[in-house]
Amino acid sequence: MPKLYIETVGCQMNMLDSELVVASLRKQGYELVQTPQLADTILFNTCSVRQHAEDKIYSALGRLKHEKKKNPGKIIGVMGCMAQKDQRLIFERAPYVDLVVGPGQLHQIPSLIEQIAAGAGQQLEVSLDRTEGSRTAVEQSFESYDPLRDEQMRPSPYQAFVRIMIGCDKFCTYCIVPKVRGPEQSRPAAEIVAEVRRLADEGCREITLLGQTVNSYRHTAGGRTSRLADLLHDLHEVEGIGRIKFVTNYPKDMTDDLLHTVRDLPKCSHYLHVPVQSGSNEILKRMKRGYTVEDYREMLARIHAIIPDAAITSDFIVGFCGETEADFELSAELLREGRFKNSFIFKYSERPGTKGAELYPDDVPEDVKRRRNNELLAMQTKISEADNQQFLGRTVEVLVEGPSKQNRGEGELLQLTGRDNCDRIVVFDGQPRLIGQFLPVMIYDANAWTLFGTVVTQHAGPEVYSL
Ligand code: SAH
Ligand code: SF4
Ligand code: F3S
Repeated sequence: MPKLYIETVGCQMNMLDSELVVASLRKQGYELVQTPQLADTILFNTCSVRQHAEDKIYSALGRLKHEKKKNPGKIIGVMGCMAQKDQRLIFERAPYVDLVVGPGQLHQIPSLIEQIAAGAGQQLEVSLDRTEGSRTAVEQSFESYDPLRDEQMRPSPYQAFVRIMIGCDKFCTYCIVPKVRGPEQSRPAAEIVAEVRRLADEGCREITLLGQTVNSYRHTAGGRTSRLADLLHDLHEVEGIGRIKFVTNYPKDMTDDLLHTVRDLPKCSHYLHVPVQSGSNEILKRMKRGYTVEDYREMLARIHAIIPDAAITSDFIVGFCGETEADFELSAELLREGRFKNSFIFKYSERPGTKGAELYPDDVPEDVKRRRNNELLAMQTKISEADNQQFLGRTVEVLVEGPSKQNRGEGELLQLTGRDNCDRIVVFDGQPRLIGQFLPVMIYDANAWTLFGTVVTQHAGPEVYSL
């Protein structure tokens, strides 16, 4: 049996892509192994969103140089966003790489590997650049083949990612995604519903809908236009699915209609990831985000009014071009005021090929970026800790995912982990048979990242009376 090793970095889109590629290779008889040394084929699924993500892959490739010299028959492939961005440059920097495949051409991987094994030499398959053809031609060059799935590649058999859109048309000036993932395209609602039905039949309990701006979803078929709210209604009908999440939201498309749907459909998670990026209007304008801080605050107020227990999370970029101390303070103020469940904080990383790199110098020194990053992180940690304290004594509904990383359970009882309806991590002791179930858990302890609890017994048995 040929052996495959795959390493994935980047966002949930990449995790799903890896699942699909593994599924297609398993069909060819491949089995997964845990180290590159044991593998016949080594694949890296890559990310270009920040320089650091690319550096990590180039150094991992560097470490394989020797391995390839020893075993020239080993096939090394680079797939995903960096493959689309760097293309032939990857062969130049690492001449022993055999395969470069962009995220819109992943379906070709099995046949490309076969050709390489048959002696065809290096292979490159990428989609058209956005300037290389008509909109339709570029769209068609980004193909999606999502219906192929592989349960074994999922984080858990009870959870699955479901892509509802590919690409992005927002063109925020700092961001490489519209270039490497191509034009924004929504998948037909009927196709998504059919895929979710299949997942439910396989035992999946929770789905996470994926899109770079998932709440901009719009697809028209047979005279009916489906928006995300409509799709949620359709998916809510699927038996077996107990929870529906969706990421990532674009602030401007957070309509009342969508918020009412999330409030009214019990299977919808109340976790809403809506990145703001900056608290300064000057910076938001330079980022071309398309909204002001006032718009974002108004949106936060609407979410709180319609879904009072919503857990809102955000992303911030610090040290974007021209960010002054005063601009940074405005981000800090918004972070304090927003009381996000969590915030992901990134230091600006200039991406060649973006408008930001073309128009504005990357002029905030690295040590200033680092300090601002640490300050926001420290503030967010305090907020998350204080917010989690409010759960002490409360009961939350948890989908049990599996044993926790620091499983310290003994005998029959394992330390289990899962998430509540707002994506909070909950750790508690329980029987392995609870994995994959929704359970009430009462919280007795909390830190900034985790709630600790005990399973609440739902049915009072005779032992209760003897107490
Ligand atoms: N589509 C999502 C985000 C995709 S990238 C959205 O629009 O919200 C995930 C996060 O990475 C972004 O929200 C942003 O905070 C960060 N990011 C993107 N490009 C970056 C860059 N050049 N430097 C630093 N952080 C970046
Ligand atoms: Fe990037 Fe902006 Fe698109 Fe998000 S919305 S993927 S940040 S261009
Ligand atoms: Fe990275 Fe591509 Fe996702 S650039 S963040 S893996 S869409």
